Amino acid sequence: MSAAMFRFIQGLPKAELHVHIEGTLEPEMVFALADRNRVSLAHTSVEALRAAYAFKDLQDFLDLYYQGGAVLRTEEDFHDLTRAYLERAAADNVRHAEIFFDPQAHTGRGVPFAAVIDGIWAALRAGERDLGLTSRLILCFLRDRDEAEAMAIFEEALPYGDRIIGVGLDSAETGHPPAKFTRVFERARAEGFLPVAHAGEEGPAAYVAEALDELQVARIDHGVRAVDDPVLVRRLADSRIPLTVCPLSNLKLGVCDRMEKHPIRALMQAGVMVTVNSDDPAYFGGYVNANYSAVQKAFDLGREELGDLARASFNASFLDAAEKALHLAELDAYLAQA
Ligand code: ADE
Ligand code: ZN
Repeated sequence: MSAAMFRFIQGLPKAELHVHIEGTLEPEMVFALADRNRVSLAHTSVEALRAAYAFKDLQDFLDLYYQGGAVLRTEEDFHDLTRAYLERAAADNVRHAEIFFDPQAHTGRGVPFAAVIDGIWAALRAGERDLGLTSRLILCFLRDRDEAEAMAIFEEALPYGDRIIGVGLDSAETGHPPAKFTRVFERARAEGFLPVAHAGEEGPAAYVAEALDELQVARIDHGVRAVDDPVLVRRLADSRIPLTVCPLSNLKLGVCDRMEKHPIRALMQAGVMVTVNSDDPAYFGGYVNANYSAVQKAFDLGREELGDLARASFNASFLDAAEKALHLAELDAYLAQA
């Protein structure tokens, strides 16, 4: 990639809509928090841990992701994790971030829900003040656990509802179809939460359709397997349901074997509203600009298409119309002078 293209992507104002805060936990912080909390680790050094980040599939990754996340114990830990992500995102000119968190992964280890959300929340508020980066939080249910547990964590989160814009569905996809959580999502929608779900990452295109039909999601996270079903692709395009695509994640987890074969280009060309995101950047080798760069390189995307991706990131966000208009004006000004 030319230095000019690198700078163009760097300066492009963008939103990030698919990032797991626990997936931003860098190996250095794993060791720092393990030290602070007197937790013992399976790996002996930062280098050994990073070397273990070679995943054969989603489950292989999730095993390390939950293991790494177990060093997060206190409100301060969640604050520091979130602050570090926001600084990285701001450096990539992310202007707005919609961030997933997995409370069941923490409350199940005895960490109070309040410690998780208070720590994240304090960092988000500070980030808005001193980095100018706005944010929203999305509570994810772990789909490989049962419906009752999801309902219980939802009830525990309700008193903090003014800090949470939506609910999502993540963790091991195969064998855990969206319909397993129809009632939890019904309840969450009734309480005013915006629904999203991971679907069509490792699971089939049918899970994408099921997330639309059963969970009535406003966005699909990943959704790349939709390319296997032309009728579904048409439906996504016609309904303007956005996909939050994570190219480097898909490469690292074997969802696609070469970036040049990634479905993102075909989806864009079919008129689907596609956005580019980092998913779990500490594990997959890059934050959001690395994802834009990988796609640019694989498909030789021009400035116009990259601008379209950034525009989609704001349009697909949960910001209101006036906030979107401000970001889109900033983006247009950038494109006009870049
Ligand atoms: N949790 C964190 N990252 C995830 C991913 N890529 N898919 C499913 N669950 C996840
Ligand atoms: Zn994800």
